[in-house]
Amino acid sequence: MSATPRSQFNKITIPYILSRKNKNKTDNIVCLTAYDYPIAQILDEAGVDVVLVGDSVATTRLGYNSTIPLTIDETLIHLRAVRRGIRRALLVTDLPYGSYHLNNQTAVKTALVFIKEGAEAIKIEGGQKRKSLVKRLVKAEIPVMGHVGLTPQSYNVMGGYRVQGKNLESAEAVRTDALTLQDAGVFSVVLEGIPENLASAITEELDIPTIGIGAGRYCDGQILVSDDIFGLTPNHKPKFVRQYLDLRQLLSQATRQFISDCNNGNFPNQNETYFPTEFGRLEEVIKH
Ligand code: KIV
Repeated sequence: MSATPRSQFNKITIPYILSRKNKNKTDNIVCLTAYDYPIAQILDEAGVDVVLVGDSVATTRLGYNSTIPLTIDETLIHLRAVRRGIRRALLVTDLPYGSYHLNNQTAVKTALVFIKEGAEAIKIEGGQKRKSLVKRLVKAEIPVMGHVGLTPQSYNVMGGYRVQGKNLESAEAVRTDALTLQDAGVFSVVLEGIPENLASAITEELDIPTIGIGAGRYCDGQILVSDDIFGLTPNHKPKFVRQYLDLRQLLSQATRQFISDCNNGNFPNQNETYFPTEFGRLEEVIKH
């Protein structure tokens, strides 16, 4: 496949993402999560290819212990804000846990709401068990990104966040999941929390791009949670996260400085204060 030319202003589309399969490893598909307007704008302007309104918003921004409690309405608030911040990147949104588990019809209904709100694709977790749903979504012209391996919405079933595909049986299951999703029609698949050699073999075997998170160096793209790379998440970070900034520390420092300035009478100063143009007359008015 030949890649559509990439420029700073070219809108990222599904065909363009497909064309990035098997590109040389210095030109990976770069994906990050965003949950609000300013971060979406920053990622988009910096040149991120895919912005995901991840259900990780549940833990990163809403204070839940896992992604499981997140609702459709909560997701919609974040999707709308991110949509307003993005011009170039492809916008993908997670379907939250419970919104696609009852039956295919309600799942498609929810996905259509997200698409009408500006998502350009949706992501769902799970492999073989999602085959008929993916086909149904694709039939409704909804592009689908798959997600296999460590699927955080399976937290209760897995008994925590556990790396998958470490033994032969589990590795074969992850591979079959990825192949099944491709056959069903997904345009790309996230490989999360699996050994590098398994991710590499799956990437070789698939015709669609793989996006890795904790899946080593040989996927067609990489995704991380933006709050993790910016240093906003307070808790233990998994080994695959690279933190580029300590935003939590910077924000705390700025807050402490503001408190101190207010308490010391350093804020506001003269330059941060309004004055009347007719001072004498205003004083008269105030007296009366
Ligand atoms: O919700 C999320 O953050 C994800 C990851 C793949 C980044 O699904």
